[in-house]
Amino acid sequence: MWTDSLPTWFAEHGRHHLPWRLTTDPWRVLVSEVMLQQTSVGRVLPRWDRFLCRWPDAAVCAAASLDDVLREWQGLGYPRRARALWLTAARVTAGGWPADDVGLQALPGVGSYTARALLAFSDVGTARVPPRDVNIGRVAARAVLGSEPAHVSASVLDAVIGESRPPGMPIREYTYALFDVGALHCRSQPRCEGCPLAHGCAFRRSGAVVVRRHHPRYQGSLRQLRGAILATVLENPRLASASLRRAVSGIAGATPQRFDEAFASLVIDGLLPGSDAGVC
Ligand code: ADE
Repeated sequence: MWTDSLPTWFAEHGRHHLPWRLTTDPWRVLVSEVMLQQTSVGRVLPRWDRFLCRWPDAAVCAAASLDDVLREWQGLGYPRRARALWLTAARVTAGGWPADDVGLQALPGVGSYTARALLAFSDVGTARVPPRDVNIGRVAARAVLGSEPAHVSASVLDAVIGESRPPGMPIREYTYALFDVGALHCRSQPRCEGCPLAHGCAFRRSGAVVVRRHHPRYQGSLRQLRGAILATVLENPRLASASLRRAVSGIAGATPQRFDEAFASLVIDGLLPGSDAGVC
């Protein structure tokens, strides 16, 4: 099986030091998974610690204001994640943690990946299927099918991953090992030397060439403008709208129309209160 050498490799080379791997507490696991969704491990490490020092359980986070949580989130990007986390904190404080996939996916911001991650890494319930993020999907699609994951259906990827767990390797460790192969070797530009899957890898055998993906620019993007508006309002919630416009006017592409668009989208996302600040 293509995963045969995974347990030995993982024991020696796995990233066992990652602190969210040393807990089974669902709140701590959830915070890590939400942060790791769009932010790199290196940037998450200090922020996960800081967030949990401040809000060590869901109840204390639920009791905080949304503005405080958004302020704590500054610099991690994609602040909708912070709002969803805060809403989930309130839900689990009031009703407890759901113990299955369907119940978990009903929590704000929790999709199929995060629900499965909670089942695999925390003690809320029992995992039957390993969580599959883009990195794990890439490892399996390349190693077994010799393709990039975009060319393979989600159900095929799930089946390949589900049926390839080495006997005796718990789902939790199997998933960590696949994350680590993805992070250390099977990156978008592969580094096959030392990869535990290299000997049987269909992608490597096929000699396929990796096409460099184009990443949308952050500079001048609506995301940059949204971030600047949100940061400015969180710092000074009573700022008059003309001052707010002035404060972010140095951002590339911050035309009045783009400001209105960015401001309105923050209101729609529930990150800023609806007011007339954005329409002067
Ligand atoms: N360990 C647990 N969850 C992880 C993730 N999402 N990425 C990397 N390592 C992890």
